[in-house]
Order: sequence, then structure tokens, then C-alpha cells
Amino acid sequence: MDVWSPVRFNCGREMANRFAMAPLTTDASHDDGTVTAHELAFVRRRAAGGFGAVISSAAYVDDGGRSWQGIGATHDGHLSGLRRLAEAMRTAGGLAILQIYDGGRIAKPELIGEQGLRAASAVASLRPGAKTPRAMTSDEVESLIASFRDAALRARKAGFDGVEIHGANHYAVHQFFSPRANRRVDHWGGTLAKRMNFALAVAQAVRDALGPELIAGFRVTPFEAEADGYTLEDAKLLCGELAGLNLDYISVSLDNYRVSRPTGEARVYDRPVEQTYTPLENPITASARVIAGRCAVMASGGIKTCVDAEGAIALGADLVAVGRAVVVDPEWLSKVRSKTEASILAGLPQDEREIASALSIPPRMVAYLLSRPGWIPRL
Ligand SMILES: Cc1cc2nc3c(=O)[nH]c(=O)nc-3n(C[C@H](O)[C@H](O)[C@H](O)COP(=O)(O)O)c2cc1C
Repeated sequence: MDVWSPVRFNCGREMANRFAMAPLTTDASHDDGTVTAHELAFVRRRAAGGFGAVISSAAYVDDGGRSWQGIGATHDGHLSGLRRLAEAMRTAGGLAILQIYDGGRIAKPELIGEQGLRAASAVASLRPGAKTPRAMTSDEVESLIASFRDAALRARKAGFDGVEIHGANHYAVHQFFSPRANRRVDHWGGTLAKRMNFALAVAQAVRDALGPELIAGFRVTPFEAEADGYTLEDAKLLCGELAGLNLDYISVSLDNYRVSRPTGEARVYDRPVEQTYTPLENPITASARVIAGRCAVMASGGIKTCVDAEGAIALGADLVAVGRAVVVDPEWLSKVRSKTEASILAGLPQDEREIASALSIPPRMVAYLLSRPGWIPRL
């Protein structure tokens, strides 16, 4: 399949090529979650490369679920900034997709105030220093689903082409699906089928809020590397159910798609997650088979060249999302398109001020990236 060919989603919107800019948190919103000029500059420059779709950094849907100082979609005061963000994302005519999330047990205590951490169950994350959350009541679970719905309505009002639900990388939607994080014995947990209920309810609420003409995507971690996590077989069942909800795409989130390595929960950046389980089949191929053309499949993790993108597509993806490569080189896609890949920047410069000024990376994001050595290559 030609990576420069268009793809039409179920909702009718067309993506001009197979490249999406992956959701990339800049940690650079204002304190109240409104969009900053720094974030707009970061996005505008990268979107100018001509991505078929640009996915935003994840926007929190509830004040109790903020995991970093990123953008919010919790009230209409966020709308004007979100409108400007959608415009910046469309700089080169690509589709603008707002990613929405809740942090659950990995929300940042300093950002969520008095209420304290709340999650599916009172089980602490594996992240170093993690605090134990309290288990949400059923009313709180319903209310969080409504918050996802309301954020999707705001995305629509702000003029986005669609919404991606962040169901991956150990945030709240993922936590509800994980037997490690979800020990509930009500409608929301206790069996594999019930652990799917939160993801499915959020997806249905978002689809309904958007209506049939906007893109509804769902990002999933296709298996957990950690002991006693969910398996690829479990995630295939979830993908199968999600694909029955008339979504437009399911995004399979990996840290490195070629070696089937997911993002680890503990997030030790200078070494890969310790895997107690690796599925025999590539998760992109397995997911594509179960989705069976009912919606598009997006793949991500370690795509740095056109050959990498073609490799993910050969495994069964329709689209790819590119993250770190476009953080490091804002002109990444233009270079891929013009077949000048040899000039792609391979890492961030050593000089911190140069990172911010030469690469249009918000200063707060520079600090965020550099505080996690090994995450992004340095020159
Ligand atoms: C700085 C940074 C911020 C990220 N923020 C998000 C985010 O907001 N939402 C999300 O789903 N993934 C986020 N990711 C993960 C990326 O979207 C991507 O899945 C991951 O980096 C692997 O792909 P890559 O090798 O192309 O970077 C982030 C990654 C980086 C490096």
C-alpha cells in the first residue's frame, strides 16, 4: 500500500496520506489547562509537514484526572484555545483530532488538589513513589463517562474533525481494563467482559456525542508486559467489541512495533520495560485480523523512516502515528516525502536553549523531556 495514498474513514472524512502526528504532550499549558502560544507553535510547525491527521496532546476530561500540566476540555472556558489549537493542527490541511484522557491512579497529586487520587480500585500504580488511590463509587464512574462525553461535545464545538479516546499507556481507561489495576466486582470489573465495560461505555458515549460525521478513534495498549497483566488475546476481544461500535479507527500503541514492546507502566526511560510476557503474534497483525476492516487500524512505536511506516502497514495497519521522530525533527515528514531522509535530525542538540529555539519545543517540554534520560535521543 502506498503511504501517500488517501484513506476514507467510516464517518466519510478523508485523510490525505497514511501519516498521523502522534499525540504528544508538551506539559506546557497554562495552569488552568488553556492552550499556550508555545503549544501552538510546537504543533503548527510540525503539522506544516503535511500529516494526513494531527492528533493533539491528551486533554484531561476531569479535574481529578490531570497527569501533567497539559490542556483541558472540562469547561467552555477551554473552547477558544481549543479552537486555535485545531486551526494550528490544520496548518497543512490535515485532519485535527483531539485526544482526551483521564489519569486515574497516575494523575499527578499536585495537580488535582484536595480530592485525592481516585481510580477503578484502591491499587497503587507501579510508578516509583505512586500513591494508593481510593476506589471510585459507581456514581463517580458514571460521571467520568459523562465527562468523556462532554469533552467530545466540546471538541465538536471547537471545530475538531474528531476525537481519540486515550485508552492506552496505563491511564484510566486502560486501568479499568487491566486486572492489575481493576479489582472491582460490580458492572465495571470482576470478569474480562466486565473490565471491558468502561472502555466500551466511554467509546459509545463519545461516538454518540460526536454524531456520525466526525472521527471517533480509540487508542489501546495491545497487551501488558507486566506480570499478571492482560494478554493480547484479551485485547483482541476488546478491539473486536470496539470495532462493533462504528468507530473510525483503533490505534495500537507500542513503544517499538517491530519487537512488540509496549509502553511500560513504571516508565523507566533508559531501559525497555521488563516483559514477563510477549505474544507470539505481532499485535498489529492480530488486532487488524479481529477488526477485520470494520474500522481503520493505526500503528505506532519506533517509526523513524518511511521503511518503518511501510513495515507497520505490511503488518496490517492502515495508518501510522509518528511521535519522537517528529519531536526531534519538526520537518520529519517533509524530509520523508522528499526522500531526503539522510538529513533527518537523529537527536536533540546538547544545548538546552537550542532545543527550545531551533526546534520550537516549549521550554517546559524541554525540561520534561530532559528529566527522562533515554526517552528521546540526544546528539
Ligand atoms: C513527549 C511525549 C509525549 C507524549 N504524549 C502522549 C499523549 O499525550 N498521549 C498519548 O497517547 N501518547 C503520548 N505519547 C506517546 C506517543 O504518542 C507514542 O505513542 C510513543 O512515543 C511511541 O511512538 P514513537 O516511537 O513514534 O515516539 C507521548 C510521547 C512523547 C515522547
